[in-house]
Amino acid sequence: MTTSTAPASLAEAGFVTLTGPYASTDEAFAAAATAVHAAFDEPAQAQLEVIGDFTIPPRDGPPGRDFQTLHLDFGLPVDPVGPGPVARCTALFAPFGGPGGAAATRLVPLAPLLAQRSWPEPAELLRRLIAYGETHGGRDEARGYVEGSFARLVEAADGALPRLPSIRTNPEFLCGEEFGDLDSELTFLAALGLSVEAVERLVRLAPGEVLLFDNLTLAHGRAGRRRPGELRQRVFGYRDLGVAGQKQIRDRVLGLFAGGPD
Ligand SMILES: [Fe+2]
Repeated sequence: MTTSTAPASLAEAGFVTLTGPYASTDEAFAAAATAVHAAFDEPAQAQLEVIGDFTIPPRDGPPGRDFQTLHLDFGLPVDPVGPGPVARCTALFAPFGGPGGAAATRLVPLAPLLAQRSWPEPAELLRRLIAYGETHGGRDEARGYVEGSFARLVEAADGALPRLPSIRTNPEFLCGEEFGDLDSELTFLAALGLSVEAVERLVRLAPGEVLLFDNLTLAHGRAGRRRPGELRQRVFGYRDLGVAGQKQIRDRVLGLFAGGPD
């Protein structure tokens, strides 16, 4: 793992640290919005808007875990059946005067990670993911199957008998609690042929800085525990994207599974 603070650009590297320093949340997220709109040239670009605004961890919430599993914010619409939100980019801001902390955001670029092994061709890949949603995923009548857990996406794509608990048969199972610690997640993914450590970047924000990352080309998580109120998070994306638009995005993400060895 390496620590990085200044990659080339959001569009090329998939993430960027805006060093500011920004004195306020408004100032920080205005800079983030400008960077987001400059980075992406997509047909649906005009619809990009703020779809989530959070304080993380919540100020009055329970103490968080000392890591967070790799995921995609708002999830990947694997088998969408109705309109819904899709997150394009996430911004994290460390305000001055906040509680501070030593936790790092884990950023895992999907293309080089997934290229470490081979995958089935696109139609079979999609078939496996949809089948996984029917037996193990959090399928919903209104949305269809949306999967946020990177480990579940990989497990589904691999196609072997799933080892993670089924959300279908254990509705009380909390998404994001697939692993008890960070090492368990890394071991699980290594068994599926993926060395996260080979490509993972860790980013720690100084007060006044913003981290902005592409939610569709990187999986992200956390190493370390955050203090309540440590960060502000703003998510840019599509608030109510139709099924066709969601499938377009899904296919682009699943295209990242195509770069491996034959
Ligand atoms: Fe997240």
